Amino acid sequence: MTLENDLFLRALLREKTERTPVWLMRQAGRYLPEYRKIRKQAGDFMTLASTPELACEVTIQPLERFPLDAAIIFSDILTIPDAMGLGLHFVQGEGPKFEKPITSAKDIENLPIVSADDLQYVMDAISLTTKTLNGRVPLIGFAGSPWTLLTYMLENGSSKSYAKSKALLYRTPELAHQLLDKLAQSTISYLAGQIESGASVVQIFDSWGGVLSPADYKTFSLQYMNQIVIGLQAAGYPDTPIILFSKGANHSLPMMANSGCHALGIDWTININDALKLTEGKVALQGNLDPATLYADDHFIDHAVKEVIDAYGDRPGHVFNMGHGMQPDMEPEKVAVLVDAVKRHSEH
Ligand code: CP3
Repeated sequence: MTLENDLFLRALLREKTERTPVWLMRQAGRYLPEYRKIRKQAGDFMTLASTPELACEVTIQPLERFPLDAAIIFSDILTIPDAMGLGLHFVQGEGPKFEKPITSAKDIENLPIVSADDLQYVMDAISLTTKTLNGRVPLIGFAGSPWTLLTYMLENGSSKSYAKSKALLYRTPELAHQLLDKLAQSTISYLAGQIESGASVVQIFDSWGGVLSPADYKTFSLQYMNQIVIGLQAAGYPDTPIILFSKGANHSLPMMANSGCHALGIDWTININDALKLTEGKVALQGNLDPATLYADDHFIDHAVKEVIDAYGDRPGHVFNMGHGMQPDMEPEKVAVLVDAVKRHSEH
């Protein structure tokens, strides 16, 4: 399908663009009143995510409000553990929970490797959304990194200390590797299916890569994202841009740039120009406004956006985003200010 707006794809391939494309992580979700309405009608998160018509509607909601340059399919990184049989649900105010979290070596040994066929509802949501977008902007597919999924599967939700996950790495590394490998194999099939269904780009969210030491990050997180990148290329998708986003792992940017991915998501704890130097122009960079900037006034947001654009400079290969996602208590009006600022300050 030909795209009306391919700025995002061209920037990921480090081609020259008329201006910097922009999208936001978690751009669909609870900060939008129209999302909360559909979410209430659906009753629970998984019904919303697994009903293609509803997932499609919610994916497109932010594009109806703001002139964004990409859509991201409405889903969650925890769909893979759910398909493996852990039983995902969301407890109000507590976040994600599993009916059967991983608690023993047996649980890991018995865990099945899943494929795109086991997640047909995500494929259907992507096909329908691609058709509905009709080339307006590219659609992003996504998955969690094996390490980030491991933490949710062991901690049974979010964690502060990652005690169970780190105990697994340090006491029984071979078991940790077995689990990470099963997750990586499942993710290759899952992302290949998403591309086959219409996603033009895929992003791997390694939200908790930054809680590992640099050495552990390499062994337990980056290695498995690398396996996914190579696996997707071998599966016949060498040209589909892959974005790796490891939050808090700027210590490993040079290594990430050699992973075979096309672009890196950059959090806000590094100047994007320093990230550019560390990655030597080998990949495109996506980022990196501090999301908390959206709690400031309009003038401040405008200035902060300009600072990121000026720091990146004139080189091609910049996708504007924040260093992490939208939060439920952010005001939609601030996104309009951000998107407008990106366009004004980056237009050549
Ligand atoms: O536009 C988009 O980007 C939305 C699609 C999306 C969701 N989750 C929807 C969602 C994406 C890309 C994700 C990824 C995701 N999910 C990550 C990685 C990104 C990141 O922020 O680091 C992580 C760590 C998760 C796991 C997860 N799912 C959490 C921690 C939560 C929040 C739980 C809570 O109640 O605060 C979810 C649920 C979730 N996923 C919601 C949304 C909109 C909110 C649930 C709801 O509407 O009831």
